[in-house]
Amino acid sequence: MAEIAVVGAGYVGLTSGACFSHLGHHVVCIDNVESKIETLSRGQVSIVEEGLEGLVQAGISRNTLRFTSDTQAGVSSADYVFLCLPTPDLPNGSVDMSYVDAVAKQIGPWLRPGTVVVNKSTVPVGTTRHVAQLLGRDDVSVVSNPEFLREGNAVADFLNPSRVVIGGDDAAAVERVAKLYDGTNSPVIRCDATSAETIKYAANAYLATKISFINSIANICEHLGADVRVVADAIGRDPRIGGQFLQPGPGFGGSCFPKDTIGLLRLAGDAGYDFGVLRSVIEANDQQLARTVSKVRDAVGGSLRGVAIAVWGLTFKANTDDRRHSPAVEVVRRLVAEGARVTAFDPTVSGVVPELPSVGVAANAIEACRGAEALVVLTEWREFAIVPPASVREVMAGAAVMDARNLLDPGLWRSVGFVYQGVGFRPQ
Ligand code: UGA
Repeated sequence: MAEIAVVGAGYVGLTSGACFSHLGHHVVCIDNVESKIETLSRGQVSIVEEGLEGLVQAGISRNTLRFTSDTQAGVSSADYVFLCLPTPDLPNGSVDMSYVDAVAKQIGPWLRPGTVVVNKSTVPVGTTRHVAQLLGRDDVSVVSNPEFLREGNAVADFLNPSRVVIGGDDAAAVERVAKLYDGTNSPVIRCDATSAETIKYAANAYLATKISFINSIANICEHLGADVRVVADAIGRDPRIGGQFLQPGPGFGGSCFPKDTIGLLRLAGDAGYDFGVLRSVIEANDQQLARTVSKVRDAVGGSLRGVAIAVWGLTFKANTDDRRHSPAVEVVRRLVAEGARVTAFDPTVSGVVPELPSVGVAANAIEACRGAEALVVLTEWREFAIVPPASVREVMAGAAVMDARNLLDPGLWRSVGFVYQGVGFRPQ
């Protein structure tokens, strides 16, 4: 059983901490937001993350998981210190390393000899060495252990990973970190730190590429009269392609793909390489947002000025409450900019949406549609798929539906008089 400190109790840090405690280790999660520490110490998890609260409560009652805002006390008794800190993008596209840098400088003097500092934050290539310099200690090791956790699915991804990647110069430290994952039965890839850091960017960039690719195929399907749902299913059955991440939509978003694609493009540029494929992926994503807006505009007769629009979904995907870089929020922002009056419903949102102050927030999916000319589905919450279209038809002024997630049953919606549009197929 190892003594682990996790610095940063966001969805990555908290999931990692709770899962390591579930695997039998002693974990302390550290965060500088006192109120977060208080609620977590009571076993309350404020983010939407399936299975996490149960693991946190189990860890607290077994005494293998605790929370503190005292960084010095937390890290000084640890054999392993995981850095799970935010690395947001700056307006110029570069990564804001101020949190990682500040913590690395701060904790250096407090670490016990032999501690392994493990970087889990998504950081520019070269950060493992940079962190080692900031720590200023030659008796501790630093390794890179990137995370591949999907928000909303993070616990399951942590406990059943497709692979664990650990990179560093100190082979013994790499082995010690690999041991921490005993119990997950996952293959461990041991490599140098630079490769580990690159794996993280390459994985996210490749997944984003799949999405932009299938969105482009969807757009072609609309012109050709083909059905992208059949096309995606058929190509995905080829194991060289794989069936996941072939769901067309309004474009990818979230706190990772937009940041990491731009980050990798920048890294490539700094290395003197023009990563044209990735630039096209990012451009195609922006075009997909614009295309979604133009479909809504066309559906209401060519102008959005003064038109009431209902929106279902504001989070960047279902099963999370995260709206960072949400394509839904961006589409709504563009609809509002063209003069639309938008009322939205999302299961995780109530009150005013700070980034969309003029948007009304309804108490449920049907209420969002009252008086609307068109309904736009922007997040794939399963509960939207079971709303009876006849009840929606009763409260709407118009009959247009733009299903940007291919979530609804087109036949059902058309049968009660809706003019349905999805992504990548023509409804029969
Ligand atoms: C992503 C990766 O999937 C994780 O492996 C990685 O660890 C994480 O980023 C990270 O770097 O921290 P996440 O941002 O939670 O995870 O979300 P995804 O489930 O990957 O979805 C990203 C975006 O792509 C969403 O907007 C989603 O709606 C969209 N998407 C996904 C599609 O439009 N189509 C698809 O087929 C799949």
